[in-house]
Amino acid sequence: MNIAVTRSQAKSEPPEALVLLPPAIPPLVDPFGREITYVRVSVTDRCDMRCVYCMSEDMNFLPKPHLLTLEELDRLCTAFVMRGVRKLRITGGEPLVRRNILSLFRSLSRHLESGALSELTLTTNGSQLARFADELAACGVRRLNVSLDTLDPEKFRKITRWGDHAQVIRGIDAAQNAGLAVKINMVALRGVNDAEIAPMLEWAHGRGMDLTLIEVMPLGVIEAERVDQYLPLDLVRAQLGERYTLEDIDYKTGGPARYVRVAETGGRLGLITPLTHNFCEGCNRVRVTCTGTLYMCLGQEDAADLRAPLRASSTDETLHAALEAAIARKPKGHDFVIDRNVKKPAVSRHMSVTGG
Ligand SMILES: C[S@@+](CC[C@H](N)C(=O)[O-])C[C@H]1O[C@@H](n2cnc3c(N)ncnc32)[C@H](O)[C@@H]1O
Ligand code: SF4
Repeated sequence: MNIAVTRSQAKSEPPEALVLLPPAIPPLVDPFGREITYVRVSVTDRCDMRCVYCMSEDMNFLPKPHLLTLEELDRLCTAFVMRGVRKLRITGGEPLVRRNILSLFRSLSRHLESGALSELTLTTNGSQLARFADELAACGVRRLNVSLDTLDPEKFRKITRWGDHAQVIRGIDAAQNAGLAVKINMVALRGVNDAEIAPMLEWAHGRGMDLTLIEVMPLGVIEAERVDQYLPLDLVRAQLGERYTLEDIDYKTGGPARYVRVAETGGRLGLITPLTHNFCEGCNRVRVTCTGTLYMCLGQEDAADLRAPLRASSTDETLHAALEAAIARKPKGHDFVIDRNVKKPAVSRHMSVTGG
C-alpha cells in the first residue's frame, strides 16, 4: 500500500518539513480505466426456493466452514468501502435465510452514517421480508429488489418449485409499509410468463414500484434447456411498444439496466439484456461469493480467493494486495451465447453461487 509523503508548501523549507500523510488507499481501477464502485456480495448459497432457471432441484450446498463468517463479510465489505466502493448489494442464494444476517446490515450501516457508502441494498425473493422489512429500513436500507416472475400463484409455484406467492406479496407489502422503495425483478421466460409482462408492469407501476425485466443467462447446469427459456428483450420491448409509449430515459441505479418511462403508467421499466446488448462497457461492478471468491466478471471463470488473505491475518494488508491484483485482471466483458449448438453454460457456477 502507498504511503503518501508530501512536502509542505514552501520549496525552501528544510527536509524536516516533510509531512507524513495517513496511508492513501487508492481506488480500485481496472485495466480499462473503470473504477469499481459497486460490489455485490453473496452471503449464502442456500435458498428457500428452487427457481427453475437458477437452481437444479437437488442442489449440493457448501459446507458451513467454507462460508465467510458475518465478521469476515463485514471486514471484506469494509475493505471495499475503503477503496471507494459506494454501493453494496447483499444477495445470495436468499440473503434473508442466512442466520443472524441482520447483524451484518446493522454493522455495515455505520458506513452509511459516515457517508463513505451511498447505498446499502439487497436482492431478495421476498419470502422473509414480512419479518425483516422494518429492521432493514432501520439499518439505512432505502431500496431493495424483489424477484417475482409471475402474479399467478400456481405458476409461481411451478417456477420457484417451493415458493409461496402470498408470502412474497405480504413481504412486498411490509417493505412498502416500512418506506422501502421496491423494484420488482422479473426474468423473462419464453412460453412461461411472456403473456404476463404487461399485467406485471401495470401491477408494479400501480403500486409505485419499478419493474426490471432480465434475460435468462447461461449460468450453471439446470434441468431445463436455456434455449427454450430464453426470450430476447428486444422482442419484448417491440411488443410493449405497440401498446405503450416507451421513452428512453437516463435514469441509472449503478446496475446494468437501461430504463424507459412508460407514459401510460408513469412508471419506469428496466431492461437487463446481457445477451441482446452486452452491458459490459461501463461495468463498475464485481461480485463476491459467500466463500469469499471474487469474480471480476459475472460471465467469466477467472476469480480471486479473498478468504485466504482474510483468514491469514487480522490486518487487511494482504487483503488489499489481493484486491489490487484481482482488479488488475478484470476482463473487458463476458461472451454469453444461448444457442442450440452451445450445450454448455457460459460458466459452470449457478447464479445462486455468484449472487444476482
Ligand atoms: C440469484 S437471485 C439471489 C437473490 C434472491 N434469492 C432473489 O431471487 O432475488 C438474484 C437474481 O438473479 C436472477 N437469476 C437467477 N438465475 C438467473 C439466470 N440464470 N439468468 C438470469 N437471471 C437469473 C433471479 O431471478 C434474481 O432476480
Ligand atoms: S433466483 Fe433467488 S429465489 Fe430463486 S432459486 Fe435462485 S437464489 Fe433462490
